[in-house]
Amino acid sequence: METNKNILIIGNGGREYAIARSLRQDKRVKDIFLSPENPAASLYLKAKSFSYETYQELLQYVREYHISLVIVGPEEPLINGISDFLESHNIAVFGPSSQNAKLEGSKAYMKQLITELNIPTAMHKEISLDTINEGYKFIESLSLPIVLKASGLCAGKGVLIINSKEEAKTKLQQMLTGELFGEAGKIVVIEEFLDGYELSIFALSNGKEYTVLPACQDHKRLLDSNKGPNTGGMGAYSNLPRNLYNKTLESKIKDRILTPTFQALSDSKTPYKGVIFAGIMVVSGEPYLLEYNVRFGDPECEVLLPLLETPLLEVLESCVKGEKLNNIRFKNLCSVCVVMTSSDYTKNEKSNCYPAKIEFHENLQTQLQNDINVIDSQSHVVFANTSMKNGELYANSGRAIIAVGMGNTLQEARDNAYCLTENIIFEGKHYRKDIAYQAL
Ligand code: AMP
Ligand code: GLY
Repeated sequence: METNKNILIIGNGGREYAIARSLRQDKRVKDIFLSPENPAASLYLKAKSFSYETYQELLQYVREYHISLVIVGPEEPLINGISDFLESHNIAVFGPSSQNAKLEGSKAYMKQLITELNIPTAMHKEISLDTINEGYKFIESLSLPIVLKASGLCAGKGVLIINSKEEAKTKLQQMLTGELFGEAGKIVVIEEFLDGYELSIFALSNGKEYTVLPACQDHKRLLDSNKGPNTGGMGAYSNLPRNLYNKTLESKIKDRILTPTFQALSDSKTPYKGVIFAGIMVVSGEPYLLEYNVRFGDPECEVLLPLLETPLLEVLESCVKGEKLNNIRFKNLCSVCVVMTSSDYTKNEKSNCYPAKIEFHENLQTQLQNDINVIDSQSHVVFANTSMKNGELYANSGRAIIAVGMGNTLQEARDNAYCLTENIIFEGKHYRKDIAYQAL
């Protein structure tokens, strides 16, 4: 068994912290690098970091530090072609090609592909400024509410759900002229509203075959009871109870959505290697694909990885090398995570109290220092958007800290996660109090 491996993770949010934390528990891993730096990962996970301006500079670092695998966390570098570049220099990289990353980079492209493949999705139309009148007509033909999606990347915030046709028309115009989401909104997908419950389904693919991971549920809205604006995600949990997810539903998702997608991609010049994230809406027991992402979800990754029994590195390397994926094991546990944000998250007007100093309950401080040595711990903290000043951690504006709880039941996992949230203090701390409500 090869030991002393150095791994580079691109990205520095909660998802990347969770990946680093999992890798830290692997004896084969020597140094973990995050780029850019996540100061809490440097502090608690002894991660190293560097930043780079150009791909050539990145390549130099990868060679200098003898990196044996690069794991790409967020979508943007994938869409910009980081995997293509690294692969062309024979560097092992976990994350799909830029061609395949278009599944997330362009909602219009994704919708065209899945429509060709007859994959169930919401009725929709793609509109540009030239065809705005068609857009108005389509809005008239739909029932309320109306869903407007910026085709390009908007960090999970480019979807509007609107309760009046007049407002939908105004917003459509603002999107198409670039007023609302800049370039990303100049092509809009207008679609019917699907009334059901959502699932986050992850499938790992090695380019030839795929395997599905335990289903998760995210909580996209900012406030309890699914109120307020859409966010990047306010909390997640896994496993789901059988009334929300079961073998029958899994088979439908595979047969109708994932298999045709991977089949089409493996017949193309660039088979899919990495993780695909299907955002599913279940309506009356039938799954519809809302979107594809080409990376782990954040915060879904924070609940999935602690459930993984097979070492993460082994799993990711199998994908990269095209090896069999059929023996990935998961612990028979549940996990719940709660995202703690600044008070101004999603607001246009920023509060001047950020960065805000974070204080931890005394016991938690000790636990944090030992976190990595306590693998069976019932709860742990994941640091997302934080910064460091004079050796102290500060919460930045946005999603700052994620409390993760584990347990034999969802209730236990949830209690453990919420117990942690009480022990972390910073000004204006906001979090949802109802994570996993659909299951409990
Ligand atoms: P997306 O980026 O396409 O996943 O959309 C973000 C969120 O908007 C989803 O997680 C859903 O909560 C919501 N959403 C998107 N499309 C629809 C739809 N057609 N019907 C209902 N809700 C939707
Ligand atoms: N949690 C949703 C996302 O990562 O896009």
